[in-house]
Amino acid sequence: ADTKIYQASTTAPVNIAVVKYWGKRDPKLNLPTNSSISVTLSQDDLRTHTTASCSSTFASDTLLLNSQSQDTSGARTQACFRELRALRAALEASNSSLPKLSSLPLRIVSENNFPTAAGLASSAAGFAALVRAIANLYELPATPTALSRIARQGSGSACRSLFGGYVAWEMGSKDDGSDSLAVEVAPASHWPTMRALILVVSAEKKGVSSTSGMQITVATSQLFQRRAEIVVPAAMVAMKKAIKEKDFESFGKVTMMESNSFHATCLDTFPPIFYLNDVSKAAIRLVEDINNAAGKIIAAYTFDAGPNAVIYYEEENTAAVAGVIKGALGGLEGWASREIEPKESTSLDA
Ligand code: PMV
Repeated sequence: ADTKIYQASTTAPVNIAVVKYWGKRDPKLNLPTNSSISVTLSQDDLRTHTTASCSSTFASDTLLLNSQSQDTSGARTQACFRELRALRAALEASNSSLPKLSSLPLRIVSENNFPTAAGLASSAAGFAALVRAIANLYELPATPTALSRIARQGSGSACRSLFGGYVAWEMGSKDDGSDSLAVEVAPASHWPTMRALILVVSAEKKGVSSTSGMQITVATSQLFQRRAEIVVPAAMVAMKKAIKEKDFESFGKVTMMESNSFHATCLDTFPPIFYLNDVSKAAIRLVEDINNAAGKIIAAYTFDAGPNAVIYYEEENTAAVAGVIKGALGGLEGWASREIEPKESTSLDA
């Protein structure tokens, strides 16, 4: 019998949304109530590295994250395994010389080079890396968009981490999710001066999980429907235009208004969800001060399901934005900052 260990590795980067995903129309398939857009950040700074292996000598499917054993029986991980195994089984059926990897237990080993569950989209990089590592192991001829359909079932935002640069997740309209996919808006090289500053509240733990937060928002918020039907579709059009034209003022305005709209629906959820804390609000005021001093928008904040800020700006304004923010917040306890660039390459690394 074949006792060989087959193995492949990959990395996937973190992405931070500038048009936010918040709300599921199908919680099982992670089908969203609105489309979204993100910027993929550099792998050197924030990424998950994952090795996938399979062998008849393994007893069962296992998953290790930062050396800690994780449950693989969850519906989301199972959905990814099932979809990838089905694609491999189809390859094996059409070519009998291929080893029968689809029936072997999987061993997944992942490492994040950033704090897990600190509201830094760790699940996005995590599921994107898991899906791509197994796709590489199975030698699947799948495009990033095809893999995005699978990664989406692990964590919605993960579908956007299959690409570098500026990425749209088009919500789609089909019930089976076959058209709810990530597509490239522009590669990172299109806007080489874009920068992001991450401000981490190191002590803070994630409060309400995105999955349960979304469910209560969809069920109780009165603002939510207007956001999904009117606010976000307009933001999608404006954001794609801003990215294509490298128009930072428009990019920044939509980014900040989108973050505010998402957190407004959280406050409008009953009982309300608070992701921003007083330090987050201080960061918002600081960005406003910076933009007022410049006489135009040169910095844009955004917050996901936690108090940590990501500030976008252009390289020429590094001193006026990153310098000022680090100077002002440096004295505050609990803040750490990192300056990073969007991810350059969009290639599938083996
Ligand atoms: O992919 P999830 O289920 O972790 O949800 C992510 C939700 C936000 O980060 C708040 C917004 C987004 O589009 O990434």
